[in-house]
Amino acid sequence: MPLLDHHVAVITGAGSGIGRAIAIAYGREGARVVVADRDGAAAGDAAAEISRMGAKASAVTLDITRRRDCHSAARRVEEEIGAVSILVNNAGIVRRHGITAPDKAASRDWDAVIATNLDGMFNVTRAFLGQLRRRRGRIVNVGSVLSVMHGRTPLSPAYTTSKHGVLGFTRALAAELGREGVRVNAIGPGFTATALNAAVRDRDDPRLAAVLDHIPLGRMGTVDDLVGPAVFLASDLSGFVTGTILLVDGGYHII
Ligand SMILES: NC(=O)c1ccc[n+]([C@@H]2O[C@H](COP(=O)([O-])OP(=O)(O)OC[C@H]3O[C@@H](n4cnc5c(N)ncnc54)[C@H](O)[C@@H]3O)[C@@H](O)[C@H]2O)c1
Repeated sequence: MPLLDHHVAVITGAGSGIGRAIAIAYGREGARVVVADRDGAAAGDAAAEISRMGAKASAVTLDITRRRDCHSAARRVEEEIGAVSILVNNAGIVRRHGITAPDKAASRDWDAVIATNLDGMFNVTRAFLGQLRRRRGRIVNVGSVLSVMHGRTPLSPAYTTSKHGVLGFTRALAAELGREGVRVNAIGPGFTATALNAAVRDRDDPRLAAVLDHIPLGRMGTVDDLVGPAVFLASDLSGFVTGTILLVDGGYHII
């Protein structure tokens, strides 16, 4: 019996990487999947891949930084597909300038990262909230191991701040929505091979070796490593789990 039968799931940033792997897995588990991404072609491609597996999927072109667009997308999804019962706030970006970088670079990173990783998550959640409450739904926010630490990779304070914020948002919503049967949890991927870090991985950089050396399981993560935790948190298997973060980092945070 599939684990997500009768669910309608929206996954943001699902045209690529982790979101795409989660969308495919939800389709396999019987959910009706809505692939949302600002890259419409990538969203269409992911939805087509899910449909070829025999699952139901549609694509929505959506930039989550645009609040009004999030609300019109939510209305359209409800009218055309049905009320959403699972929301995965996955879309996110990375920037790597430190606070000591020239002002333009540091400020640009801050504005872009907060607009996407925090404001975007708020925009989408607010837009789908009515549907999620009516369906006693589940929200899965994609944070990071950097929701609980800063780590060794060269990353901007904006990124770490945003991912700590994802955990705060998760806890606040879990507290506010729990009595209505809406569960809210986060996943914290560690270093996972995707387009997000392709440039860093391709470089022959000793810092990369230092990061890998710091992972007890001795390897980088793959997008498939996120699938089990994402299905678990969206399904009834996690019926008494809310407000938590499941770190999927090969143990990076413990040493
Ligand atoms: N890859 C890692 O090592 C890693 C580690 C920890 C956390 N994460 C988090 O996982 C999530 C997914 O990252 P990924 O590695 O799969 O990256 P990715 O770049 O492969 O995919 C991100 C997707 O989000 C979309 N996106 C970006 N901004 C958007 C916007 N404003 N509106 C709509 N869509 C937008 C992109 O078009 C892309 O398809 C992010 O939140 C990221 O911070 C990734």
